[in-house]
Amino acid sequence: MSYTNFTTNIETSAIEAINIDRAQALARTGVDITPLAPIGAVVRGLDLASEASPPEDILRMLELEMAQRGFIAFKSPRPLSVDDFLSASCWWGGRELHSTHGVHPATPQGNPHVFRLSNDPRHGIPGVGPQWHNDGSFNDTTFSHSGYHMVRPAEQGGGTWFAHQGAAYEALPKPRQEFWRRLSSVNSTSGAVHPAVHTHPLSGQQGLWLHLGMTGAVIEKQANEQAFRLLDADELRQLCHEYNDILNAGLENGYSVAYEYEANDCVFIDNLAVAHRAAPQAHLSAEQQGLRIMHRSTVRGVSPLAPDYGLPQYLDISDRSPFGEGVWQFGGIGFRWDDSIPMQN
Ligand SMILES: [Fe+2]
Repeated sequence: MSYTNFTTNIETSAIEAINIDRAQALARTGVDITPLAPIGAVVRGLDLASEASPPEDILRMLELEMAQRGFIAFKSPRPLSVDDFLSASCWWGGRELHSTHGVHPATPQGNPHVFRLSNDPRHGIPGVGPQWHNDGSFNDTTFSHSGYHMVRPAEQGGGTWFAHQGAAYEALPKPRQEFWRRLSSVNSTSGAVHPAVHTHPLSGQQGLWLHLGMTGAVIEKQANEQAFRLLDADELRQLCHEYNDILNAGLENGYSVAYEYEANDCVFIDNLAVAHRAAPQAHLSAEQQGLRIMHRSTVRGVSPLAPDYGLPQYLDISDRSPFGEGVWQFGGIGFRWDDSIPMQN
């Protein structure tokens, strides 16, 4: 079901080209950064397996590019160790790991900071993240960045989709932008409240933000009065479809990408700039697709993704709604907006 038609080709100003001064400064240190189309960038010449972390100015330049273009992919000619991957994860954002996930028995040394994913349950946790989301929506700060280390890509493919949330916001019709700016989502497990439109702390870009597998309620600040209401089931279903549609439309309109990994790829995303989801092929069986093993890391957020309009950072979603009637769904995947699709955190 599609509620909105986003067929226009977007001339977006939200996705900036690689900054030339930064690219030249990086090149002088032997680091090459090349744009991926339409979002993201590839970085070569920086060895994630080296002992020392790169100088601060190099990390800052790469972090800014990540904020603008959504993600950077490091190409490595040789396998990376778990420690290499986790050390490099700490180059960004809050500069330390913040791990809240389960640990699969096949995780190397049972490292609690590795979220091991696979399409074979003997090798990793299957079926994770099948719908658009950002990681850590149950935290006030969310995660600043996430890392993906492709240990073993499946022969038949199955990567990750990334969507630029600033460009997705720009693609919305103006009346819908105004509506979205009045909304805040409530996480279904922790009750964390986040604005549906926020300003990125590094790029200054306004972007959409919603979790399609862990949202228990959406609160609307009513337009002409100091009052709040909950979206009802029809409205929330429409909102989730609209979000899904507009991020999917970026695959055609130049602000989303279906990224396919090569072995040893290490991708870091700015978790406030891009939404992501597993490609449908990523969850096909190992017999069908080939074995896929990926390690994910998550980095502590820097500052709260705080709601507007005086709303608190947390609401008790396990208790009764303070806003009257509407969807107020505690636990698990939250509000189920489409019965025909897989949902799993
Ligand atoms: Fe995720």
